[in-house]
Amino acid sequence: MRPSLLLVVALWAGCASCGGLEGAPACHLQVQCRAFRYPIAVDCSWAPPPAPNSSGPTSYITTYRLGLALRGESRPCLQPTPETRRCAIRDFQMFSMVPYVLNVTAVLPGGPSSTLLPFVPERITL
Ligand SMILES: *[C@@H]1O[C@H](CO)[C@@H](O)[C@H](O)[C@H]1NC(C)=O
Ligand SMILES: *[C@@H]1O[C@H](CO)[C@@H](O)[C@H](O)[C@H]1NC(C)=O
Repeated sequence: MRPSLLLVVALWAGCASCGGLEGAPACHLQVQCRAFRYPIAVDCSWAPPPAPNSSGPTSYITTYRLGLALRGESRPCLQPTPETRRCAIRDFQMFSMVPYVLNVTAVLPGGPSSTLLPFVPERITL
């Protein structure tokens, strides 16, 4: 096994980054972004929300923006289908001084639940 395989740097969204929705069922998804295709794309994926009795597939809306400010322009993270638990960011600035923020919104029967994950592409390469 090559040592570099062990150096997977993954950022996990914690409850601290759930957009300040206190008490909301928002801290559901463990989102991970990796830039092993850097500089072509950043690939993000997430585990399903722990909803044991949800019927049918959950769909997701994914967007990303540059910077932590809510006003930044959002762009879609590209998902093959809305049910796919991964998406790809193909358009990002290299060596940005501010992090990108991925917003994964699970569309759940009880209402949408967003998880935010800040990341810097250069820090999540293999
Ligand atoms: C899921 O749980 C809720 C609340 O416990 C219940 O009302 C609902 O019927 C359940 N749905 C399914 C598909 O089991
Ligand atoms: C995340 O995306 C959802 C769906 O597009 C949106 O409603 C929500 O406001 C976004 N949250 C943030 C903090 O940008």
